[in-house]
Order: sequence, then structure tokens, then C-alpha cells
Amino acid sequence: MIKLKSREEIERIRESCHLLERTHQEIAKLIDVGITTLELDSFAKNYIESHGGIPAFLNYMGYPASLCTSVNSVVIHGIPGEHKLRNGDIISLDLGIDLNGYFSDAARTYEVGTVSDNAHELVEVTRQCLYAGIDKAQTGNRIQDIGRAVSALAKRHNFGVVKDYCGHGVGFSQHEDPQIPNYVSRGPNPRIKQGMILAIEPMINLGTGKVVVHDDGWTVETEDGQLSAHWEHTVAVFDDHTEILTQID
Ligand code: MF3
Ligand code: CO
Repeated sequence: MIKLKSREEIERIRESCHLLERTHQEIAKLIDVGITTLELDSFAKNYIESHGGIPAFLNYMGYPASLCTSVNSVVIHGIPGEHKLRNGDIISLDLGIDLNGYFSDAARTYEVGTVSDNAHELVEVTRQCLYAGIDKAQTGNRIQDIGRAVSALAKRHNFGVVKDYCGHGVGFSQHEDPQIPNYVSRGPNPRIKQGMILAIEPMINLGTGKVVVHDDGWTVETEDGQLSAHWEHTVAVFDDHTEILTQID
């Protein structure tokens, strides 16, 4: 069941999203050669808690950290640890916040130092895939219009679209209906309506879209070991426009 949000509820969710965006901006300043993914995680947890929020991923289905730190061929759900960032790495950071019971979700992929042309193109195109998807998240369209736009752009660059994981509704909890695939699926295709809060999150690979899950039960990696990027925003659908909530102008 898709839970539509009132104007007042959207205001509360916006506050959660803005705290999330500020947290991402602060973490971004720390990304550099030599920092460990665990240091990024500790910073995120402290920053969120000192601003009255709760890191929403921590203990979610047993996830052991606040931040997902997915380096190079890791697609999503990379667990922070002693890994030090190296020149040429790309790292996807995914984070969610519960602020007074209202949930936000956003991910970005960063380049560490100087990366290969291929890596740079992947990161940029994945970001463009996110905005192509957001462009379709308008009242009157349908949920699958989002994935159609995402996969069309990825395919033009010969990149692989991850199909095993999807975007989702968000706001009252971390994951709500509808599921938002990044391709045209055979599943449900509801109409997009005012009051929907959607987390749109393309996961795009340099090679095929196939992934494997590690024995830790979390880390999702490309099957062929090639690079992967992940960008995500939480957006609110209004009758006459769609607002990117995890963005502060
Ligand atoms: N951000 C992920 C998503 O968009 C959720 C991560 S769940 C966690 O669906 F448990 F790994 F934190
Ligand atoms: Co998400």
C-alpha cells in the first residue's frame, strides 16, 4: 500500500532530508586518500546524533553501521571498516536518517583523487541517470516511467543496470511501497500522485548488471568485478512540480 503524505508530513520529511543533505556535505569534505571507511561512518553517526537524528540504517535488519561505504566494484551495502581510501578509488556513500520519526535516504558516489576516464564516465552517467529518473517522477506519469528513463540512458553508454535492487517509497519508514525498479519490470506500475515520497536510486555498472552478495550477508558486488556507481535522492511529488528534498540550494 502506498502511503500518501500531507503537506505537514512532507514538511517534517523535508527537515529529515535537509539534515541528511548537510551530513552528506560534511562527509564529502573528509573524502581523501588515507581516510578509512570506518572514520567516515563514525563522523556520520556523530553528526546525525548531535543534530537530533538517528542513523536509520544502524541495526536495520541487523546492518552494523550508520553509513554504507561501497568502494569500486561494491555496488551497495559495503560495511565500513579499516579499508583506507586510495587514489583512483570511487566510493558510494549511502545514508538514511530518522528525524522525529520521519525518514530520508540519499546516496552519492565520489571520486578519490584522480580516477580513470571510465570511472569518471560511470560516476557522471549514473548521476545523470538519477536526474533522468527524477524528471519522470511527475504526477500523471507511472512509476515504471522512471526506470525506463534510467535504463535508456545507461544503455546508451553500454553500462549495466542492476536489477536485483530497487528504489522505493520512504518517509514514514525506511522502505515503503512502491518499489521503483531501474528498468521496465513486469511488476506493478502505479500512477504517480501528489503526496508520494520516492527514493530513486540507480545502481549502474561498467560491465553487466549482474551482482553477487558476500558471505557477510550485506556486501553486494558486481559479478565481473568491474566498477559500480550509485546515486540516490528522496523526492516529493506535488501536483505541479516535484521537489528534490535531499538537495539544498
Ligand atoms: N539505502 C538503502 C536503500 O536505499 C538501504 C540500506 S539498508 C541498510 O534501500 F541496512 F543497508 F542500511
Ligand atoms: Co534507498
